[in-house]
Amino acid sequence: MSDVYRVSQDWARHAHVDAEKYAALYDAAASDPTGFWLDQAQRLDWIVPPTVADQSSFDEADFGVRWFADGRLNVAANCLDRHLASRGNDVALIWEPDAPEEEPKRFTYLELFQHVCRFANVLKAEGVAKGDRVTIYMPMIPEAAFAVLACARIGAIHSVVFGGFSPDALAGRIEDCDSRLVVTADCGRRGGKTIPLKANVDAAAERAPSLKRVIVVKATGADVPMTGRDVWYHEAAAQVSADCPAEPMDAEDPLFILYTSGSTGKPKGVLHSSGGYLLWASLTHHWCFDYRPGDVWWCAADIGWVTGHSYILYGPLANGATTLMYEGLPNWPDASRIWQVVDRHKVHTIFTAPTALRALMKEGDAFVAKTDRSSLKLLGTVGEPINPEAWRWYNDVVGEGRCPIVDTWWQTETGGAMIAPMPGATDLKPGSATKPLPGVHPQLVDETGKVLDGAVSGNLCITRSWPGQMRTVWGDHARFFQTYFTTYPGKYFTGDGCRRDEDGYYWITGRVDDVINVSGHRMGTAEVESALVLHAKVAEAAVVGMPHDVKGQGIYAYVTLNAGEAASEELRAELRQWVRTEIGPIATPDAIQFAPGLPKTRSGKIMRRILRKIAEGDVSSLGDTSTLADPSVVDDLVANRVG
Ligand code: WT7
Repeated sequence: MSDVYRVSQDWARHAHVDAEKYAALYDAAASDPTGFWLDQAQRLDWIVPPTVADQSSFDEADFGVRWFADGRLNVAANCLDRHLASRGNDVALIWEPDAPEEEPKRFTYLELFQHVCRFANVLKAEGVAKGDRVTIYMPMIPEAAFAVLACARIGAIHSVVFGGFSPDALAGRIEDCDSRLVVTADCGRRGGKTIPLKANVDAAAERAPSLKRVIVVKATGADVPMTGRDVWYHEAAAQVSADCPAEPMDAEDPLFILYTSGSTGKPKGVLHSSGGYLLWASLTHHWCFDYRPGDVWWCAADIGWVTGHSYILYGPLANGATTLMYEGLPNWPDASRIWQVVDRHKVHTIFTAPTALRALMKEGDAFVAKTDRSSLKLLGTVGEPINPEAWRWYNDVVGEGRCPIVDTWWQTETGGAMIAPMPGATDLKPGSATKPLPGVHPQLVDETGKVLDGAVSGNLCITRSWPGQMRTVWGDHARFFQTYFTTYPGKYFTGDGCRRDEDGYYWITGRVDDVINVSGHRMGTAEVESALVLHAKVAEAAVVGMPHDVKGQGIYAYVTLNAGEAASEELRAELRQWVRTEIGPIATPDAIQFAPGLPKTRSGKIMRRILRKIAEGDVSSLGDTSTLADPSVVDDLVANRVG
């Protein structure tokens, strides 16, 4: 039996949604989807209101995801213009710098609007038009928000690439979507360290012939060489006006691309469109976090990930919120930093990842206890399963039992939260993302696709479309269908394993495909393998996840060297560095085991199940190894396990 934390009377009374209303919303979305969604869509400001809602199909014959197709709107106008009359002088964006001794910045809705319009005019002056792709490779500074919203304003499709990715990873993402222009900064700062963003763009440009223009924001003032391709943002901004009409867009016009790792091949460009995505971001922000005017909302993600897109920018701004953007790390200069930021800005809700909580928990409660935190009313988590110990620490130590924990399960592909509590409606169980939001229809199936009812474990599918669903893989619609809709025909397969308990609560158990979740970031094992085999001394590599105290999962790599190459500590360090350079620091292997051979079937397929078990240290139950081409490799692997 797991603990149940009951919704407090106070929350039940005051929240937007209580238990009765949740049930009514869930039923309405299920029984009259068209009426329900056209009604919900009214929370957005449409130029032409839609008269149709869901026109999606998960079947091959008429496959496609389409919502509100005859509606027209502009996403940036929904996030800015429509708030000007009622809350133009309210703070829209608070920016907290990396170093605590520096001054934060605040932008009212009017100021943010003006910055975005000016940025949009700079893009236009560079020839960017509706439908063009703009790559944004930025630190967590206000200009990153301006750039994203400026794209939305003129109908350009943004592709934000996390500032921690390497020049190679950046180049691949620029080329894949044929992006002409990159927005970057001279350098970024995080935890007192400098990240050479402009230099990385220069290196990427050599491998990305589509790139013609780089707009450079002066962030740190570092001395960076400018080429004929580069334009300083502040110089370009001085040449344009702050008056820029919002481009009317069809609901289904693309809003952004965000690259994410899958189980095979290179990262996929997940495409989200305008109307459905914005509705889902806004509605889930409202439902799950019970946002109220005047609350200070802090999503402590990076805008390079979907969490930053949906819950630093689009959801909160569509709801007229005050959203906080933090440049730095949760534990720098020390483990109090996050709670000091809460106190400094009187934050009401913080939304972060279990990995950050585990890292802070390890440092001890004193770093938390010495801060006030009385402004907090709700605590959110996302990115990976939260272990009950971290959940309780968040609840008891950080929230002092006053703040519901909202654990949101979702994915880059889903646009916003899918399975998550509503604080006034849902009793909580530590470690469970609880129940589906209205309009979300989860289903558990076994390996053969048989639908499993009741309290059971299985693979998590979603049977009906929802407004925030991705629309395609950029440039490869067939891959979209193939990746998500062929494992279990007619259903969207999430890639996650999941248990449903006797109360209908969902417990995500982690990925069941070759994707690992490192510190809440998705990593394709195939990507790390490809990087490793690019090294001249490596013949073959196989990568699996391993349990990790803080990161959730770590990266365990089995490496077979070319004949004549000797394993050594130096080579191990070199390979780690190699992967960092090829992909980025988040892909650094935690353990590398030199393996003379990998366990393969007679047809040459690597048996990852065995590799996973060894990496987990679970060598007593390796299962049947008799089908291997050479069963003796397993003994060697077990004997030379690392860690
Ligand atoms: C994968 C998606 C959602 C934004 C951040 C990650 C895992 C995400 C939870 C949660 C258990 C979770 C799943 C999912 N995941 N949230 N609350 N509980 N697992 O987005 O990079 O697209 O990764 O993260 O495995 O499939 P992403």
